[in-house]
Amino acid sequence: MEDKLTKFRKLLGEISDLQSTGAVLGWDQQTYMPSGGAEGRAMQLATISRLAHEKFISDEIGMILEDLEPEAEALDYESDEACLVRQVSREYKKQCKVPSSWVAEFSRVTTLAQQAWQKAKAESDFPQFKPHLEEIVKLRRQYAGFFAPFDNVYDPLLDDFEPGMKTAEVKGVFDELRPQQTELVRAIADCGTAVDNSMLYREYPIQKQWDFGVEVIKKLGFDFERGRQDKSAHPFTTSFGLGDVRITTHFDPNYIGRSLYGTVHEAGHAMYEQGIGVSLRRMPIAQGASLGIHESQSRMWENIIGHSHAFCIAFYPRLQEYFPENLGDTDLESFYRAINKVETSLIRILADEATYNLHIMLRFDIELALMEGSLEVAELPEAWNSKMEEYLGLTPPDDGQGVLQDVHWSGGMIGYFTTYALGNLIASMFWEKMKEDIPDIEGQIERAEFSEILGWLRRNIHCHGAKFKPMELIERVTGSSLVSEPYMLYLQTKFGEIYRL
Ligand code: CO
Repeated sequence: MEDKLTKFRKLLGEISDLQSTGAVLGWDQQTYMPSGGAEGRAMQLATISRLAHEKFISDEIGMILEDLEPEAEALDYESDEACLVRQVSREYKKQCKVPSSWVAEFSRVTTLAQQAWQKAKAESDFPQFKPHLEEIVKLRRQYAGFFAPFDNVYDPLLDDFEPGMKTAEVKGVFDELRPQQTELVRAIADCGTAVDNSMLYREYPIQKQWDFGVEVIKKLGFDFERGRQDKSAHPFTTSFGLGDVRITTHFDPNYIGRSLYGTVHEAGHAMYEQGIGVSLRRMPIAQGASLGIHESQSRMWENIIGHSHAFCIAFYPRLQEYFPENLGDTDLESFYRAINKVETSLIRILADEATYNLHIMLRFDIELALMEGSLEVAELPEAWNSKMEEYLGLTPPDDGQGVLQDVHWSGGMIGYFTTYALGNLIASMFWEKMKEDIPDIEGQIERAEFSEILGWLRRNIHCHGAKFKPMELIERVTGSSLVSEPYMLYLQTKFGEIYRL
């Protein structure tokens, strides 16, 4: 078995090298590449992803898996080897159903679509993007078809981001949450408590924003020896291996919240990647357990910790030192309330914690309708605007602030948004457990001491990488299946206090 495992690891390591190479090209595309590079880059990425896919679904891997599967079952369930074989086998069976020609075509189409989306968004011109999205939806439906039969055409897409999760489960959770969140948002709107956040929208020089953000995430535990930060239109985190995890941030010279919390969010993702156990290096399980788990990490740092009163005690005096002309006249309490102001907005990434999930439910409804075929891409702007009105009471003035605002669909990532809302729920579940284990957690945050918090996350979540399925990991950590109560309780408590409900 040792020999077979060694060979297995060698093959998987080479595939991982190809994928990391693709990640470098993808990172460059979104940070420094001139627009003239788009077509060449599309070919390069298509070739790399085809090579990686072919190598992965090769007969060689299939044969080794066949030999290893029964032997791995005899191993300790939680051992690296047993988890590796189990997870690779699941992924192998999935990917074998997808032809390499589809993978290359998908990569080519989405690379061009991302370029087109950037331009279409800047010019607020949906028709420019429409043919690209039509191709993507067609390809995505084709993709789902490879996994027929299914309960819902959306299931295979969701499974790519949240292994094991079903559309019906998501619908169930969303149906439970929607009325409660809507009620909370309404109670806040009706309570008559005004919150002023105008101080966040003054002129904040970008270099100083950058410097402050770096200072904060260094304290949180982001390791700059094994990572770096750059700028991009849409913030993201990407990993080229355990020793090189990149984050990007978007800076708005007239709004401090965007970069500050964008940086903390991405650092949350990156610290997850940096915390994966070294024994998993170059293996396909050296990544997050799922996007929902990944978002639970970024959102815990960004929201539960980053938007807490304790966090303001730790960092607000320092922020005032950076920007005395903007914040000198704002006390800590006012700042805390300002960053937690609840206000319905058009833009998902600017949404506060109380309204955020409503943006996700809107996208979930639309994606489902596109996949099920009850909505055409051409009808998308109209469908978007009417849902926006229904859920948040707002109508976008143009498509740039509406249907074109997010990068995801241009990358073919239908099914992805859902994981953001799941991340919120999971973060609250982990947080409850962490509070039990670290009674002095608030005091530690106030003193800007994060080593125990990060240590807890590393031990319980990060080090495992993708050894376990997301729901399995949640059970291990919390002893419970996915529930929405901790999340709603967290929101109700926090905003009840701020808005004196
Ligand atoms: Co994120």
